[in-house]
Amino acid sequence: MPKRLEIDWQWPKLLKSKVFFDRSAATTMRKKLVVGNWKMHGRLESNRGLLEGVRDAAITSCEVAVCVSYPYIAQAQSILADSGVTWGAQNCSEYDLGAYTGEVAPAMLADFGCRYVLLGHSERRTLYGETDAVIAAKFGAARAAGLTPILCVGETLTERVAGETLAVIDRQLAAVLNTAGVEALRKTVLAYEPVWAVGTGRTATPDQVQEVHAAVRAKIAAASPAVADGIQILYGGSVKPQNARELFAKTDVDGGLIGGASLVLNDFLAICRATN
Ligand code: 13P
Repeated sequence: MPKRLEIDWQWPKLLKSKVFFDRSAATTMRKKLVVGNWKMHGRLESNRGLLEGVRDAAITSCEVAVCVSYPYIAQAQSILADSGVTWGAQNCSEYDLGAYTGEVAPAMLADFGCRYVLLGHSERRTLYGETDAVIAAKFGAARAAGLTPILCVGETLTERVAGETLAVIDRQLAAVLNTAGVEALRKTVLAYEPVWAVGTGRTATPDQVQEVHAAVRAKIAAASPAVADGIQILYGGSVKPQNARELFAKTDVDGGLIGGASLVLNDFLAICRATN
């Protein structure tokens, strides 16, 4: 029997970690996915041009989605319905309903045709104090409402320099895996977003990205090779038309989660096309 998987469960310093995943066992051809995260940008009029432009480009080399601010989800639905482009939100409540002023329940997002919801984005973790436990609760609630979570993980620069990258991601992933179980990842997308690369213009190198993605996939494979084989792992952090192709060419990079460049139609389309 060939040795199929060897993983250092402690996930020590990144460069010392040993991660192998026997790809001969892999059967799934993962389709690439490019998601625009508009963050708190957009107004009715500018959104229209962006949404119609993405819709009319009819990209076929990858799946395309946009995650817009809550008020514009209905606009995204009306423009993107019946196109190949899907839409989603950037956050949701961990509760189904109730006295939670200002919150939005996952079922409300489903009412407006959302396929995706971003969860655990570093801006939610750092600016709004979302803990691993809260994100795991949101993950469960989103899935129960039929949404596909895009679960974001990633380390800060301090953590990377300290050699803690994989330990941090392990902790972030474990919070979800321990509550929802590995099978829950079948209808989940992961996004690796090193915090030091988000909105900084500083992209992780393709090799750095591949190293983390392979480690994440191997970690999941230890619990379920089939789930690991099928799950889309996106990279996010200063993806631009100039660097997208090289990033997407890596074996374990299944697409991108795009911030700033998703607000510029031609840049976003160029990034989508870099998946072909
Ligand atoms: P930038 O592409 O602007 O770096 O943002 C990445 C991001 O946070 C996507 O979720």
